[in-house]
Order: sequence, then C-alpha cells, then structure tokens
Amino acid sequence: MTYKTLLLDKKDGIATITLNRPEKKNAMSPQLHEEMVRLLDDLRYDDAARVLVITGAGSAFCAGMDLKEFFTDLKPHPQEYDRIWRIATEWRTRTLRYYPKPTIAMINGFCFGGAFSLVEGCDLAIAADEATFGLSEINFKLFPGGSVSKSLANLLRPRDALWYGMLGRPFGGQIAAEIGFINKSVPAAELLNETMTVARELAQKDPWALKATKEGYRFSLEMSWEAAMSYSSAKEMELVLRQGDAWRTEGIGDFLKGEYRPGLEAHGSKKR
Ligand code: COA
Repeated sequence: MTYKTLLLDKKDGIATITLNRPEKKNAMSPQLHEEMVRLLDDLRYDDAARVLVITGAGSAFCAGMDLKEFFTDLKPHPQEYDRIWRIATEWRTRTLRYYPKPTIAMINGFCFGGAFSLVEGCDLAIAADEATFGLSEINFKLFPGGSVSKSLANLLRPRDALWYGMLGRPFGGQIAAEIGFINKSVPAAELLNETMTVARELAQKDPWALKATKEGYRFSLEMSWEAAMSYSSAKEMELVLRQGDAWRTEGIGDFLKGEYRPGLEAHGSKKR
C-alpha cells in the first residue's frame, strides 16, 4: 500500500507514522484522513508493529485540520464534508483511543486545533520543548470544534481548557507537560531518542497485558463501579485465555522462584 500524505517506517517492533505534508505544516487534508484510516487498519493486523509512534515531517507535528481543503473547498459539498468530518473524528477519537496496541504522539513542532484530538487519542505523548501548541480556533472566530472540545474536556483541567481555548495563546512543550496535556517535554535534539526508548520498552512488554491495561483504564472511565468490576473480572479471564495463563505461571511463578523482582524490573529483562 502506498500513501501520498504519510510515511511509514517499521523497526524493532515500532511502526513510526509520519504525517508528510511539510509544505502545509502537515495539516490534515481529506486525503490524509482517508489514508490514516487505511494505514491504522493495516497496522492493526501487522505483527511487526507492536507499538505505534505518530509524528510530523519538517517543522510541524500537525497544523490541525486543513483550513483550505476541508473547511473551504468542501463547503459547497455538504455530503462530502460530512463524510470527511465523520472519518476525521472517528480515527482520532475511537480508532486511536481503543487501538489494540500502544500509541505515542511524538510532537516535534507546530501542534494546533484538530491536532489536539490526535495527541489526546494517543496513549502517551512526548514533545520537544521547542514545539508550539495552540487552540488557535478562537483566533479565526471558530471554537474547538469536531472532537477537540471533548478531547479537552477529557484531559485538561477546566481552568486550562478554557484559558487556552478562549485566549488562543500559543504555548511550548514544557507548559504542555505542566498542564498534563502530554507526558513530558525534552529538548528537540533528544526527542527521537527519548520517544524510541519509551517505545522499545513498551515493545518488550506482553502485548495482551498492555491491551488489557489500556482497555481497563479507558472503559472503566465510562462505567459504574459495578460494571467496571465485572468488566475487570472478565478481562482477567480473557488474559488467561490469550496468554495461556502466562501472567500467573511465568510472571508470578518466576518471582516466587526468586528469579526477578517485578516491582523493579520487567519479566525477562533481567535475572537476579
Ligand atoms: N490548513 C491548511 N494549510 C495550512 C494550515 C492549515 N491548518 N497551516 C498551514 N498551512 C499552510 C499555509 O497556508 C502555507 O501554505 P502556502 O505555502 O501554500 O501559502 C503553508 O502551510 C506554510 O504555512 P505558513 O503560514 O507560511 O508557515 P509559518 O511557519 O509562517 O506558520 C503556522 C505556520 C502553522 C503557525 C501557520 O501556518 C498557522 O497559523 N496555520 C493555521 C494553524 C491553525 O489555526 N490550525 C487549526 C486548524 S483546526
């Protein structure tokens, strides 16, 4: 499969997707949305992709929705506008959020508007200190539309969401980390190394346990306590089936034999 707006690199179990419209600051065009849907579908069933990293080519991570190709060019075509709107929200807020593999946003530069939903949809996010974030919609007389308002409500403290949403002021990677929008911010020169270190660590962990970790967290948020306890119990049995009870026999078993200390290291990473 070839893609015009995306690059794909696979190495050591890590699939790196690069939004590749640097001349347009990686703004999400209708074509990019369609290609992302296909690529995420391909990687879902690709055993060589254990962890996904999403980043941008050039000076931008993603300048949000394409203000020309989406908002302007599709205005006279309401059905096509609606179709693209649906898939644009679907892949960021559902496909990514419930993706069966760990996902990391690596924010290398400009990150505006609709790109906030992309970042929020990923499990983890690491940015360059030098990256520029902004809820720029208010600056062009819009509001954080589509899935963005919901993404803000999900992740940010109310004061921060309204501060940045209403003022539209840009902010850097360190502020993004301080307000909890991303996990951490590092100097640009260290961004790739830092992200790949985290991705490699995830790639070494049991994929079914990682999937259960994501799902246990994400679905519990939407459930009552009773439903969450029932779901968690069913999840535990699912894990037993999928792993052949490895978490008990190997994970706990090797600890009880004194072979490693799970509080300090992953199973298989080190022997005492
Ligand atoms: N949609 C469509 N095109 C975009 C875009 C977007 N969101 N963001 C940037 N581009 C295009 C510009 O129109 C320009 O195209 P051109 O070379 O054909 O004129 C090109 O990308 C480079 O942008 P430019 O403004 O010249 O670069 P810059 O480095 O001076 O500024 C930004 C970069 C991202 C700060 C600025 O382009 C910007 O504010 N973009 C809008 C961001 C935004 O509000 N996004 C929210 C969308 S929901």
